Amino acid sequence: MANTEYAKGLEGVIAAESKICRIDGENGKLFYLGYSIEDLARNTSFEETTYLLLYGELPTPTELESFRARMRAGRDLSPAVLHMIKEFPPQSHPMELLQSVISYLSGYVEHKIQHSAYCNCRDTLHQISQIASVVAALHRFRQGLEYVPPRSDLSHGANFLYMLHGEEPDPEDGRIMDACLVLHAEHSFNASTFTARVVASTLSTCYSSVSAAIGALYGSLHGGANERVLAMVDEIGTKDNVEPWLEKALAEKRKIMGMGHRVYRAKDPRAIIIEEYLQELGKRKGNTQYYEILKELERAFRERMEEKGKPIYPNVDYFSGAVYALLGIPARLFTPVFAMGRAPGWLAHILEQRSDNRIYRPKALYVGELGKDFVPSSERKSG
Ligand SMILES: CC(C)(COP(=O)(O)OP(=O)(O)OC[C@H]1O[C@@H](n2cnc3c(N)ncnc32)[C@H](O)[C@@H]1OP(=O)(O)O)[C@@H](O)C(=O)NCCC(=O)NCCS
Repeated sequence: MANTEYAKGLEGVIAAESKICRIDGENGKLFYLGYSIEDLARNTSFEETTYLLLYGELPTPTELESFRARMRAGRDLSPAVLHMIKEFPPQSHPMELLQSVISYLSGYVEHKIQHSAYCNCRDTLHQISQIASVVAALHRFRQGLEYVPPRSDLSHGANFLYMLHGEEPDPEDGRIMDACLVLHAEHSFNASTFTARVVASTLSTCYSSVSAAIGALYGSLHGGANERVLAMVDEIGTKDNVEPWLEKALAEKRKIMGMGHRVYRAKDPRAIIIEEYLQELGKRKGNTQYYEILKELERAFRERMEEKGKPIYPNVDYFSGAVYALLGIPARLFTPVFAMGRAPGWLAHILEQRSDNRIYRPKALYVGELGKDFVPSSERKSG
């Protein structure tokens, strides 16, 4: 038995070997399968990055074409799933629906495919495709609108915007949406990915692993910071109000949403890329308010924290909520959009876990009592 030290939240504990993702927190670098996030976001589609994550290498043009066709064939929702979305309790969160839909989908898949431990994540690409369609359909039903069937001539990101809004997006909007999904596709052993691996390590199906991962992402300490960034920007209101707002927020010991990261000690490389998208989108849509407020807040916050000797930088969530808002995505869908992007990462980790599996079984540091006298129930007194 190697390390038996207690690390709350498993901080610093190495739980498995992995070739999928490397985060260099000191220098603000991120790689999927050895490729820099900058190269992937600028030069690949979400489908191409999904292929990379699931097969470990970039596809040839022919491989990409057939993979893309398979992913796109999985986009349309069956009447049963559409019925389920319509009937889901209207007050429920979209993440609760997503988690349930993934479990439900598994009921339609042949037992032997679900349980063939070596290949099923590559055979169940419809999981990735359908998450986007479910999010779009839910939004439309809750707006009292009709389901928009998918198109197979659009990228994953552009098709999502099409199914959400019912009209073909501006090609640049589609490209930015797709690139945002690439940026969210993988991030090593975060809570949802680790959850997916733990479930996969029991040799459960990839559906139950993905469904569990969605449950983990739903929690406010994991997904959801970008939604809170947008609420913060609305609260600030104008660029001129940044300084007084920050003064008050810091005096009240509030956390500045979208700032700081457990691993990065430099600006999150994904934030650098999303910031460019926000600037570009803002100019094109004639709304530069989000960008101006966020840049001013970044400058002012950094100045304050440097004075205290604690430089804190923006993370991926700092600019992404504003980008989604400019793409017409409501804040309640931000965490589901995160799930749309992260699904290939979860599947890649499930495959890797199975390729050299050992069930996860850490120990607890027992701090309870021992040797208590057993009292029969009839003799137990209340109070
Ligand atoms: C992400 C986060 C949980 C990391 O927490 P962490 O690992 O404890 O952060 P650090 O160890 O780097 O914190 C160093 C110091 O900076 C402070 N700090 C970190 N992030 C801060 C923020 N966003 N606003 C204000 N102060 C912050 C910490 O409170 C800590 O102060 P202390 O030394 O007085 O206790 C934290 O930065 C945070 O809550 N950020 C806002 C929420 C968010 O954007 N989450 C999405 C993450 S992808």
